[in-house]
Amino acid sequence: KLTINATKAIADVQPTMWGIFFEDINFAADGGLYAELVKNRSFEFHQPMMGWKPLSKEGGSVLIENRYQTHPENPRFANIKVNGSYGLVNEGFRGMGVRQGEQYVFSMQARQADGAPLQVSVDLVNEKNEKIGGATLGRIGYDWKKHSITFVCSETAEKAKLQIRFEGKGVLQADMISLFPQQTWKDRPGGMRKDLVQKLADLKPGFVRFPGGCIVEGKDLANRYQWKTTVGDLDQRKVIMNRWNVEFPHRNAPDYFQSFGLGFYEYFLLAEDLGAAPLPILNCGMACQFNTGEVVPLAELDPYIQDALDLIEFANGDASTKWGKLRTDMGHPEPFHLKFLGIGNEQWDEQYFERYKVFEKILKEKHPEILLISGTGPYSDGQMFDAAWKELRTTKADLVDEHYYKSPDWFFQNASRYDNYDRTGAKVFAGEYAAHGKEKPDAESRNSWFSALAEACFMTGLERNADVVHMASYAPLLAHVEAWQWRPDLIWFNNLTSIGTPNYYVQQLFSNNTGKQVIPILQDEKAVAGADSLYASATIDRKAGRIFVKLVNSAARPKQITLQLKGASNQNAIISTTLHADDLMAFNTLQEPQKVYPQKATLTAKRGELQLEIGAATLQVLEIPV
Ligand code: AHR
Repeated sequence: KLTINATKAIADVQPTMWGIFFEDINFAADGGLYAELVKNRSFEFHQPMMGWKPLSKEGGSVLIENRYQTHPENPRFANIKVNGSYGLVNEGFRGMGVRQGEQYVFSMQARQADGAPLQVSVDLVNEKNEKIGGATLGRIGYDWKKHSITFVCSETAEKAKLQIRFEGKGVLQADMISLFPQQTWKDRPGGMRKDLVQKLADLKPGFVRFPGGCIVEGKDLANRYQWKTTVGDLDQRKVIMNRWNVEFPHRNAPDYFQSFGLGFYEYFLLAEDLGAAPLPILNCGMACQFNTGEVVPLAELDPYIQDALDLIEFANGDASTKWGKLRTDMGHPEPFHLKFLGIGNEQWDEQYFERYKVFEKILKEKHPEILLISGTGPYSDGQMFDAAWKELRTTKADLVDEHYYKSPDWFFQNASRYDNYDRTGAKVFAGEYAAHGKEKPDAESRNSWFSALAEACFMTGLERNADVVHMASYAPLLAHVEAWQWRPDLIWFNNLTSIGTPNYYVQQLFSNNTGKQVIPILQDEKAVAGADSLYASATIDRKAGRIFVKLVNSAARPKQITLQLKGASNQNAIISTTLHADDLMAFNTLQEPQKVYPQKATLTAKRGELQLEIGAATLQVLEIPV
């Protein structure tokens, strides 16, 4: 028998409780959320022609020129000499996903450098090299100019390619060669993939943490994430190698670069679109520590701190300020209402603490309104966390970021992790977590129902302790099935479709069913935190007149439960949503996306009691009217 008392509130649940962690890992941005279909559009990858090939050996040639002195941000362009018929083909990000009947916008910056005007046409071709769309561009003049043309695609293809053909005799110079679907999220030109943003919106996240993860740090400081190089005109955003450009077996991504088509402005906008608080994380003067990365000397930390100050101005300043003006010029005169700022990603040890403290001193002085997030490093056995907390408790950090990628067992056992946490001072931001279990060859296999079940148990513990846990986000968020470096992930996609994992539906059930206050749900006067394989949390939204209960049975047998409801008057039409799979190792794939999928039912309580059978290995969420 479990008892819920709706008249008693234990703690407030922060509106930021359940958020999302975005990092450009697994082709999450370029090749994923960012809907650009052309890979290496400005020839800035380390091998300038990566992604491109000439269509023929004859009829012309291509040479990449570098004008570093005059265009340091985007130095390269293609110099295409044509004598008859010549062309280039772009392979896209593991191909280009295009849809029948949809419009595509081709554009490039170009000029005719020599000879008679060339005829330029573009064709989309399918896997069999058959034309499935295209158009001929108007005349290219002798000055650099952006040329655009729109055409309709006649066939759906997951791995289309783009061909650009030149006819005549002359030289054409081209840069920023781009192809976008016209239909993007909110139909913004050059925008984001609709299906993927919709999946994020369906989570109703309380915050969006960006831009990572390890890419904040970079393998070295030269390749750290620098937000200022990601805003302003697209062709001024300096392409760099992605930190996840790695050479693991099966995870090869030598073509992984950051175009920054999705930069800080777009991330702020995304957070705004999703109704979520923006949560940027900045480099703290340290590269990735895993391979004994480099650090900047304390005496040279100023530019890093200035980046933080300028970011606050970019997000919140008005048009009379330098960075507020840039945001205004980019199309957003209203502030982005930045409230949180993370200093460093997954950093630890004294090098971190001493750098964090310098940031804190200046930021707290100049921007006391901004809540600062500091880190603890990755969770190993807890000792490092304890040492970090000890140190950070001597600072004014508002939130402390904990990361744990552990076994499902760890998550089952840690459902009461926060029950005895120190309630004073900094609050917890569980900034990256995921249960890492067994895997099969399928990319999506590590996202088993078992891993999601373990996370659900753990998350009841986060919610029960909402007075100390203010934010939490699963990580990583997105992964391309043919270009991943890390698994499990929350959402898998290919060039055309995307699926939610069992872990995604757990996140969704928690974030879509959260009240404003925690209320007690007790068994024999004790929290339901894993005794007899049962886990539970309950919250209430008094204004909306709803109680939300999460129950998880991790046992291999169903359980009969009597739920006593104190203070809930209207107990008809209780909406019950269950998530379950008979096979604990079941996982969703692009081909079978709903093997583990929420099922809804309506239940009725009698005389203040609800009789319930909660299935084996099941998460059950109840929405009870009050
Ligand atoms: O989420 C994947 C990686 O895990 C993140 O980039 C990093 O912060 C952590 O080590």
